[in-house]
Amino acid sequence: MTDITDLVAQLREAHRQASQGGGERFRARHTARGKLFVRDRIDMILDPQTAFLELSPLAAHGLYGGEVPGAGILTGIGLIHDRPCMVIANDATTKGGSFFAETVRKHSRAQEIAQQHRLPCIYLVDCGGAFLPEQDRVFPDQDHFGGGFWRQCQMSASGIPQISVVFGGCTAGGAYIPALSDQVIMVKGTGRIHLGGPPIVKAAINEIVDGETLGGAEMHTQVSGVSDHIAPDEETALQMLRDLVANLGDTRRITPPAQASIAPLDTFGTPQDHAPVDLKRPIDMRALIKSMVDGSGFSEFKPDYGKSLITGFAHIHGYPVGILANDGALFSESSVKGAHFIELCDQRHIPLIFLQNITGFMVGTEAERGGIAKHSSKLVYAVSNARVPKYTVLVGGSYGAGNYGMCGRGFRPRFLFSWPNARIATMSPDVASTVVTDLRRASLKSPATEDEIAALDARTRAQFEEQSDPYYATARLWDDGILEPNQTRDVLGLCIALAAGEDRDTGPRPVYRM
Ligand code: COA
Repeated sequence: MTDITDLVAQLREAHRQASQGGGERFRARHTARGKLFVRDRIDMILDPQTAFLELSPLAAHGLYGGEVPGAGILTGIGLIHDRPCMVIANDATTKGGSFFAETVRKHSRAQEIAQQHRLPCIYLVDCGGAFLPEQDRVFPDQDHFGGGFWRQCQMSASGIPQISVVFGGCTAGGAYIPALSDQVIMVKGTGRIHLGGPPIVKAAINEIVDGETLGGAEMHTQVSGVSDHIAPDEETALQMLRDLVANLGDTRRITPPAQASIAPLDTFGTPQDHAPVDLKRPIDMRALIKSMVDGSGFSEFKPDYGKSLITGFAHIHGYPVGILANDGALFSESSVKGAHFIELCDQRHIPLIFLQNITGFMVGTEAERGGIAKHSSKLVYAVSNARVPKYTVLVGGSYGAGNYGMCGRGFRPRFLFSWPNARIATMSPDVASTVVTDLRRASLKSPATEDEIAALDARTRAQFEEQSDPYYATARLWDDGILEPNQTRDVLGLCIALAAGEDRDTGPRPVYRM
C-alpha cells in the first residue's frame, strides 16, 4: 500500500504540472507577446507576503487528454489593500482561455463563494468564450456560461464590486465578463473586447476588419465607453486595479478572532501522521483532531454516548469551532448525538467542521428495528438547517448516506476539501461488486454464466476504484481542492476568518434533546 508521504509527493507534482498551464509552446508565445503569466498577474495584485487560497487547482485533471490543466482558469481568495477579494483569472496559454464545462463550474463556484462571503470579484480576463466543440456542455443550461453572468449581475446589484482587467482577446462570453463589470481597465495593444471577433464579423455581415479596430483598448476607452481606463502595459494595469480596490468604500474586512491562535501541541504529531490510508483500519481520530486545533484543546461533548461519532468544541487559529468526526459507522445513537450537537452550535453561533471518514449508516435488522432510518434523518435534517457556516474535509472515506449526514456537497458547506487518501462513492468497490453481481444473478434477462459474472465483478470494481479516487472527484469540481493534511488547519483558519463577523440570524434556534 502506498503511504501518505508518497500521496503528498504525488499531489505536489500534480499541482506543479497544472501550474505550467498550456505547455512550453504556448507559454513561449505568451511571453513573446509581452504578456505576463496568470500566476504572476495574481502575485502582483495581492498584498505582499499574504496568503492566496487557490481553489480547485486540479480541475479537469486527466480530462481532454490533459490539455486543459486547471480547466484553463485560476480562482482563489487573497488580500488586496487588506480586503479579502475573489480573483477569477483566465489562463490564455490553455486553449485561448476558452471555457470547458469544468471551467464554467470553477468560475461559478468561485462566484458562489464570493457571493456568500460578500467578497469583491476581480476578473483578470483573457478569454475566447465557450470552447466551441464542447458548446452543448457549456452554453445552454441554467448553470452554464449564462449562469455566471446572472450571478455577476446579482452580485453587482447587491453591492459586491465586480471589476475586470482585460489582457487579451475577449470574444462573445469572454466579452460579457468585462462588459457586465462595474469598472473595466484594458491593456493597450493586447486587450480586445468584441461580441464577435473578425472571423465571426466576416461570416455574419461580410465585413473585413482587424481586431484592434474592432475591439481594441483605445477604441473602447475613447469611442464606445465599454472600458473606463486604458493602461500602457500589464504592470500598470495591475497597479491601477489595486488603486480601484483601495477606493471601493466600505467592503468587508476580516474580523479577527476574540482569542489568540495557539499552535497544536507536538505530543499529538501532525495530521499527516494520522491520515487513514488503509480505510479498513481504524485510526486515532481524537489524536487527529488534537493535532489540528489550538493548543490541542478539545472539549468533548457526550463522550460516552454514540461513540462512533466524536463531537466537541475547540478553536482553530483563535476562532471557536464545533467538530464532528467519524470513528466508525453511524448508529442511531451517534446520529442523534450529532443532531443534538449541531443544534447546540447553531444556537451558539459556532461554525461546524465535519471530518469525514465514513462507510455509511449502520444496516441490518437490528439497526432497522431501532429506527436507523428516522434517527439518521435527524442528523441529515440538522445538517441541512444549521445556519452557521459549515466546512467539510474528507480525511478518509465518504460513502453512502454517511456523506449526507456528515455535510457532503449537497448540504452546502461553505468549503469542502479532500485529502489525497480520501475516497468518495455510493459504496466501496467490494460492496458495489457484490451488489451488482447479485442483481445480475437475479435478473430476469437471460441467466448469466459464471464467466460473465466474473467479468462484471472486475468491471464494477474497476469502475468504483476509478470513480472514487480523489483526483477523479477534484477534476469534476466535487470539492474545492485536494489538501495536504498538514495544510488543513491553516486553510480552515482562512475559510472561517472569511465568514467571521457576518451578521447573525437572531431568530429562534431550539435545541431538541434527541
Ligand atoms: N473554441 C474552440 N477553440 C478555441 C477557442 C474557442 N472559443 N478559442 C481558442 N481556441 C483554441 C484554438 O483553436 C487553439 O487551438 P490549438 O491548441 O489546437 O492550436 C488554441 O485554443 C489557442 O488559440 P489561438 O487562437 O492560437 O490563441 P490566441 O491567443 O492567438 O487567440 C483568441 C486567442 C481567444 C483571441 C482566439 O483563439 C479566438 O478568437 N478564439 C475564438 C473566439 C470565438 O470566436 N469565440 C466564440 C465563442 S461563442
